[in-house]
Amino acid sequence: MPGYQHMSRRDFVQVVTAFLGTIMGAVIGLPAIGYLLSPALKGQKSDAWIPLGPLDNYPPDVPTPFSFTRSQVNGWEKTVNSYGGFIVRNGDEVLALSNICTHLSCRVVWKTEQALYICPCHDAAFFKDGTVASGPPPHPLEAYETKVEEGVLYVRFVEG
Ligand code: FES
Repeated sequence: MPGYQHMSRRDFVQVVTAFLGTIMGAVIGLPAIGYLLSPALKGQKSDAWIPLGPLDNYPPDVPTPFSFTRSQVNGWEKTVNSYGGFIVRNGDEVLALSNICTHLSCRVVWKTEQALYICPCHDAAFFKDGTVASGPPPHPLEAYETKVEEGVLYVRFVEG
């Protein structure tokens, strides 16, 4: 027959062996490549509601500390950051204040005897609602958005 080329048994075996080798390599290699690349492709949500436990754990009128951690994945590097603040309940109002001073980011502490948040770095003070009482901070303490669902208090974490 013109144009027809007969494939030898040896050629046929070589073609089939190469084909099966390629398939087996793909079956074994692709998951491994996916496993190695997946950390670089993963990102963590930078906007999330963080549960802080039952609202009843936070007594009225007393700033009560809370904290949570967030991990950030950057390629193969993972960092864990801690955040915190104070829950202040005033009637039905729930205020979640950051404990980061708005001057140069030191952490404030609540001093019951003074009824103030005190920043130890430059002697600043904030009232219970987070407004500046004295010192260099240019703004009140930042407040997290809050919500209560089925008795559980959440704060909204927004990165950046
Ligand atoms: S960092 Fe708080 S007063 Fe300066």
